[in-house]
Amino acid sequence: MADTLTVTDNRTGKQYEIPVTDRSIRATDLRQIKLTPDDAGLSTYDPAFMNTAACRSRITFIDGDKGILEYRGYPIEQLAEQSTYLETAYLILFGELPTAPQLETWTREITLHTMLHENIKKLMDGFQYDAHPMGVFLSTVGACSTLYKDSKQIFDAELRQKQIHRLIAKVPTIAAYAYRHSIGRPYVLPDNQLSFTGNFLNMLFRMTELKYDVNPVLERALDVLFILHADHEQNCSTSAMRAIGSSHVDPYSAMAGATAALYGPLHGGANEAVLRMLNEIGTVQQVPGFIKRVKAGEGRLMGFGHRVYKSYDPRAKIIKQTADSVFEVTGRNPLLDIALELERIALEDDYFVSRKLYPNVDFYSGLIYQAMGFPVTMFPVLFAIPRTSGWIAQWEEMLLDPEQKIARPKQLYVGATRRDYLPLSKRA
Ligand code: CMC
Repeated sequence: MADTLTVTDNRTGKQYEIPVTDRSIRATDLRQIKLTPDDAGLSTYDPAFMNTAACRSRITFIDGDKGILEYRGYPIEQLAEQSTYLETAYLILFGELPTAPQLETWTREITLHTMLHENIKKLMDGFQYDAHPMGVFLSTVGACSTLYKDSKQIFDAELRQKQIHRLIAKVPTIAAYAYRHSIGRPYVLPDNQLSFTGNFLNMLFRMTELKYDVNPVLERALDVLFILHADHEQNCSTSAMRAIGSSHVDPYSAMAGATAALYGPLHGGANEAVLRMLNEIGTVQQVPGFIKRVKAGEGRLMGFGHRVYKSYDPRAKIIKQTADSVFEVTGRNPLLDIALELERIALEDDYFVSRKLYPNVDFYSGLIYQAMGFPVTMFPVLFAIPRTSGWIAQWEEMLLDPEQKIARPKQLYVGATRRDYLPLSKRA
């Protein structure tokens, strides 16, 4: 017998059998529950999507209570230890780990698309000298839609593939140019002999030397951070990507919207906020006072808490290990002691324990980025680069899902009832 939920409507005395599939009921099945035949029927109310699935997905699995994160079934710990970002991006997009020839072709395709059109560079030049790199990044990604007109043909698989290559390949270049623009230095062309992250570091930090020497520890650390950030199922920016994409706009425009969502301090802007918070706290001695203010509701402990993870964020554990290897090369970040003390006190404090607030991915990533020489304004951009693979995989999954339509949530209207317009002279 199929699983069903029996609903008795006490208003009418009627009973309904609602099918239960995958531990969910379809919200539209509730429409049949009506008071009168012309009633629109029952709906669900779920601000912030606290308990509503909006899609079926095969990409990322999270068990927030157990602290599990898997891409296409592979545990994040194994990928962080054994994979590379480009290989992981392939896995996220195509569902399987690539064979050696597939990885070679994929790497070649990405490498071929790293250059930016001169017009895009000119557009980036137009930004104010101190423009936030994330603002420049998101505008430039959106502007790419004006250049790649074939990107409008979203149902052409081959052209879709081309945009995927372009997006994955060009985001590090756009990010690096946004940074170079913000510090008034000339852009550095991509070096296709280098790895994905090695080339990115080269475009960011190369000065007058003939060949930029990429530090292998930092290159690997950044690659691991990119793996950890590649996808995170239906978070705020991914939902934005899907919702915007559901209007069948091109992927560059949709991704500009997703990037804007990521920019916010409660999402990808959190690691920037963590660093600002640590700087504001200033010394280890000030930590108890800061915790007290957070508990009094005068602000949040940035880098703590997560909508999904309620035991620990598995990415935070890996990041802490990565931090150790980075600090061995760069020297210890002086803010680390404040962070460790914050973590120690918070993990013992009932306020945080009872609300299941644990360090999330952003608590330590900012410290690593800072030690590697990135300014805080680059932090959300560093999140957007790897998340591009997740966004486009989710976008494509949405496009090809026959159950999906243009996203259009319902509302419960609670405003004024019908009233007549009053001429200005008659208003009090
Ligand atoms: N510091 C202090 N209190 C907090 C925090 C925090 N960081 N996060 C949640 N709370 C409290 C909140 O005040 C509430 O308390 P009460 O029940 O007394 O009102 C309770 O915990 C539940 O909070 P919520 O806002 O309902 O939880 P949420 O699931 O809607 O929010 C969150 C999740 C990540 C937005 C939130 O924990 C937060 O603002 N954290 C700080 C920002 C941050 O680090 N964001 C990065 C998230 S990980 C990267 C990513 O995936 O984007």
